[in-house]
Amino acid sequence: MRSIRAFGAARTVETTPLHPRLGVELHGLDLRDVTAKSGYPGLRALFETHSALLIRNQTLTDADHMAFASLFGPIEDRKADERKEGEAFEVPRVSNETPGGVTDADDLHSLNLKSNMLWHADSTFMPAPALTNILIARVVTSEGGNTELASSRAAFADFPEDLKARLRGLRFRHHYSHSRARISPELAALPMFHKWPEQSWPAVWKNPVTGDEALYIASHAFAVEGLEEKEGQALIDDLTERATVPDYVYSHRWAPGDVLIWDQRAVLHRGTPWPPDEPRTLTSLCVTTTEADGLADMRAR
Ligand code: OGA
Ligand code: MN
Repeated sequence: MRSIRAFGAARTVETTPLHPRLGVELHGLDLRDVTAKSGYPGLRALFETHSALLIRNQTLTDADHMAFASLFGPIEDRKADERKEGEAFEVPRVSNETPGGVTDADDLHSLNLKSNMLWHADSTFMPAPALTNILIARVVTSEGGNTELASSRAAFADFPEDLKARLRGLRFRHHYSHSRARISPELAALPMFHKWPEQSWPAVWKNPVTGDEALYIASHAFAVEGLEEKEGQALIDDLTERATVPDYVYSHRWAPGDVLIWDQRAVLHRGTPWPPDEPRTLTSLCVTTTEADGLADMRAR
């Protein structure tokens, strides 16, 4: 099935579904041509409706990647405090490559990549969490290394009404170190995982454009407000499991030049293992949520 949509001035872009419940692939689009006036409005509408977008065979430099990401909002900068005066922002790399080869499977850098393999939304531990992550495949593996997306919007829609009602009144507490502690206490102790105080977010994010509600949860969630710690943790684990059954999951097999974009308000994601001796590099730009994305509502509830 394939639909044709008007896209900017004299363009048509075809879309095909990625998965029955989530995502579309866009065909016939060069992301270097997308501007705030031409292309972005159509692309953003698809983002709001389908929660994930795939565009293959792109040739974006880091500067192109930044220009494109900026259309969605402010680019997230987790290392602002670490850079010295005059040092420029660099597009973050999700990578096991170092000048001396790939990182050892049990070193802290590899363990950090391993914590990406827990279902999460990005930056729920920051005062303004991420709206999207725009990943570009640079170096891909011979097998494995898929990035998986689960629609926490579709999952929420399928939850029984009494659970939906309960979730509308719940809040989760998030901290960066928690997702690292699930992998290694040594990793969790690193200062980079203690830059931000815990954040508390409602368990449901309502999309202000479509009105759709989604379960808002992450590997960073360590407690439920008002519940005893163990009970809260069990609820977090149970909800994460229910939202990530195969019915809601699209698994993306990377090829170089693939650009994958998802809505963090409505999608959980995770990496998957690959042969440890193979290099894998994605470039990643997160964009921070703003009031227009429903952030004020999340803070007010
Ligand atoms: C990320 C992430 C997963 C992967 O970049 O935020 O979770 O497949 N990546 O590398
Ligand atoms: Mn992530």
